[in-house]
Amino acid sequence: MRNKIAFLSLCGVPWVPPVSLLRPGKASTLPSLQFRTTEPPKPCHPERSVAESKDLRLPFALMRPSRAGWIGRTALAFSLVTALTVSAQTADQAWLRNPDRLFLFGKVVALGTSPIEQSAAQELSRSVSHPASVKGGISSTFEEREKSLTVVGTAGEIRKAYPAVPVPGDLKPDEYWLWWNGSQASSLTIVAGGDERGALYGVFAIRRLPATAEMGKFKADYPYRDHPALPIRWVDEWDNPDGSIERGYAGRSIFFEGGKVREDLAPVAAYARLLASVGINGCNVNNVNAAPLLLAPESLQGLARVANTMRPWGVRLTLSVDIASPQKIGGLSTFDPLDPAVKAWWTAKVDEIYTLIPDFAGFTVKADSEGQPGPASYGRTPADAANLLAAALEPHGGVVLYRAFVYNHHADWRDPRADRARAAYDIFHPLDGKFASNVIVQTKEGPIDFQAQEPVSPLFAGLTHTSQAMEIEVTQEYTGQQRHLVYLAPMWKWVLDFDLRAGGQSTPVKQIIAGTSFHQPLGGMVAVAGVGRDAWLGSPLALANLYAFGRLAWDPNLSPEEIAAEWTRQTVGTDPQVVRTVVNMLMQSWPAYVNYTGPLGMQTLTDITGSHYGPNIESSENNGWGQWHRAARDGVGMDRTVATGTGYAGQYPQQVARLYETAATTPDNLLLFFHHVPYSYRLHSGQTVIQYIYDSHYQGAAQAAALVDEWASLQGRIDPRLFADVKARLQYQAGHAIVWRDAIVQYFLKLSGIPDEQGRAGHYPGRLEAEDARLTGYTVIDVMPWEDASAGKAVTCDRTNCSAEWTYTGAPGRFNIAVQYFDLQGGTAKFTLAINGQPAATWAADATLPSTRPNGDNSTRYTVRAVELKPGDLLRVEGAPGGTDPAALDYIEVTPAVASSIQQ
Ligand code: GCU
Repeated sequence: MRNKIAFLSLCGVPWVPPVSLLRPGKASTLPSLQFRTTEPPKPCHPERSVAESKDLRLPFALMRPSRAGWIGRTALAFSLVTALTVSAQTADQAWLRNPDRLFLFGKVVALGTSPIEQSAAQELSRSVSHPASVKGGISSTFEEREKSLTVVGTAGEIRKAYPAVPVPGDLKPDEYWLWWNGSQASSLTIVAGGDERGALYGVFAIRRLPATAEMGKFKADYPYRDHPALPIRWVDEWDNPDGSIERGYAGRSIFFEGGKVREDLAPVAAYARLLASVGINGCNVNNVNAAPLLLAPESLQGLARVANTMRPWGVRLTLSVDIASPQKIGGLSTFDPLDPAVKAWWTAKVDEIYTLIPDFAGFTVKADSEGQPGPASYGRTPADAANLLAAALEPHGGVVLYRAFVYNHHADWRDPRADRARAAYDIFHPLDGKFASNVIVQTKEGPIDFQAQEPVSPLFAGLTHTSQAMEIEVTQEYTGQQRHLVYLAPMWKWVLDFDLRAGGQSTPVKQIIAGTSFHQPLGGMVAVAGVGRDAWLGSPLALANLYAFGRLAWDPNLSPEEIAAEWTRQTVGTDPQVVRTVVNMLMQSWPAYVNYTGPLGMQTLTDITGSHYGPNIESSENNGWGQWHRAARDGVGMDRTVATGTGYAGQYPQQVARLYETAATTPDNLLLFFHHVPYSYRLHSGQTVIQYIYDSHYQGAAQAAALVDEWASLQGRIDPRLFADVKARLQYQAGHAIVWRDAIVQYFLKLSGIPDEQGRAGHYPGRLEAEDARLTGYTVIDVMPWEDASAGKAVTCDRTNCSAEWTYTGAPGRFNIAVQYFDLQGGTAKFTLAINGQPAATWAADATLPSTRPNGDNSTRYTVRAVELKPGDLLRVEGAPGGTDPAALDYIEVTPAVASSIQQ
């Protein structure tokens, strides 16, 4: 080794790196490596200045070998090198798949010994393709390439080791700087960080380069530097000590099981690596409905192991705490935030945490909300509670994220002035300026609760003397629970860009939460992630949301399309058709979901007191939870105007308040959030509200069906397992979109009494209801809510076998037969479709869907395709219950067999 490196030269200037520099982790004990010149390093071709020699600025030898030799560097051959499409996605890698290797030549060295720098160097090493192993013509030898060096370190370390390298003196924490110099055969690449995390983020930026648009930026800006817009970029995991996850849809916790931290923390390490790769720097591991026992000494020991596991990736541990802990586990008779004993308890507890976890990031607090205890019990304010914790954390550098999700869930629905949407602003705006400087008020993006569509929370503009963070949900609680493809980046981006016009000035949310609009010291973005042991988020395409969160929290100016393309190239494939198709699918998916679930600002018309999954329109009304849409015979929507309604619109700064105060100026997509209007009210589009409800639901279901077709076009171009997995999910989604469509359309048809101009609502050609069939064993039931079943009725079986039979009376031909059944929890029922006594298909109702009763949560469609039928044929569905699943059946639908998958 020493022989080889002795010949190293850089731009013709010989230099001899100490051999130990090539061993990561020893740099601090080494003589510093310097160019043997006091001048800054020169470009390798002195006839060209650094500014001119653009080809040399491609720093990472991202050249791809080809049979003809190296593709010219100026050709920007920075594409991924391997066939991404043939290797299966694995749970631990997600978008960090092994095959996306960069040709980064030479040794990778970390100057520092810290675990973060070691991770950075290792990460780069595992991205490097060993040139000797590359197939195809390579013009230079391995030995020549080995003369190159890539060095990772903090700006200070780089400066010390390479005084001639022009590392900027003003790199901020988490910022990185990338620089390269040398020739193809012998180069020096520098990845410098404002701190260790910055160096790590620089490495991930390099790793991402082949897939990102940053490359273009990089060329223009060389040497490239980048820093995050927001200092706090955290994920919240709502994991419970027993291993369950609140609002998690991907299996059990990677952190806890059986009341304690799991022994196997390998998935935690893998997760921290994923988080770091998109710049996420904090992870709150427990439910906001916090279990106070996690603060007990033995739990803290376990949590310290979690912190140790995440630390090498720069991800700091944070915890949700129960503000009543001093009373619940501390033996005090009170948790009054102003009580000195309470203060002393928190101080001691926080000190104890920091002795175990020196880089502990801080607390998240949910108090006086949905049954959680809070300062209101003592007549104290959220500021009193937040400042109590802030004082204990402050000496250690910790912060408090105090959630503004505080509201009364026993509101009086008969009171037209009552409005849950007002709560956060009403409670927190008067406290502006009263929070300690290490408190950040964490506000959900909208005023209600992660609905498919809501306006932006006015509180962002209502706290001008307080640091703020925005909370979003990666876990798709109200947006299809990962069974539906819903790429949420376009929604988040809309919120981030929304200009609240505070003080009549430009104050987009992204600048408020960065702390720049109101000159606040802190700010951030927090996502409730809900990852579990089932491939992180259960559904492969749902991971685009986790990726997008990290990227937007780093740079809110990125576009959702660009992020989708980056993610697709790293995860699904680089074939341009694959990228185009997947990006298109992702970008359509949120508007489609809004269309078939709750358009015009009605929120998600789901079962809000239960699963938050299937349709249940009235569950929002007549209860204290306050998620009202006020659908009635005369019209629909909630009057939140100042003039005649709850006054919520007046919480926005003047220009925005004026926009929302009148129906005429309110954008159509939020009309019903702000106004109660008759069904005949005409939107800006010219459609009536009721016709829009019909049209958007048919459109949304058609869009969901189109997703299946788009994905189908990728067959043979992507990994077959991924293809099959996603196809099955999309087919399910297309079927469930029809459940949503029919529920909402038939509900509003009945309520308004106004027919669909296009004659679709209430008319289902080819549909044969189970309750009208010749039934053997099956019993007719009323489904609750009625709109979740066709005509409100279904049949269930309480024997070992039942059947429903119809005689086909239509024209002869080739048909698809869709069977709409209910796949209940508690067992696996079996179904058979028989035609003239011959089984055409048999399947099991074995999905995991919410609810033990037949309803829109579990109404599921199975389609048998291309069946020849003639008048008089007997169509029979046989159902065999399994466990407590009674093989319930809603209808069958016979439609001409066309190529489209719309009848999924
Ligand atoms: C939603 C969610 C709850 C959660 C709450 C919160 O209401 O359904 O499970 O506890 O948000 O954000 O605190």
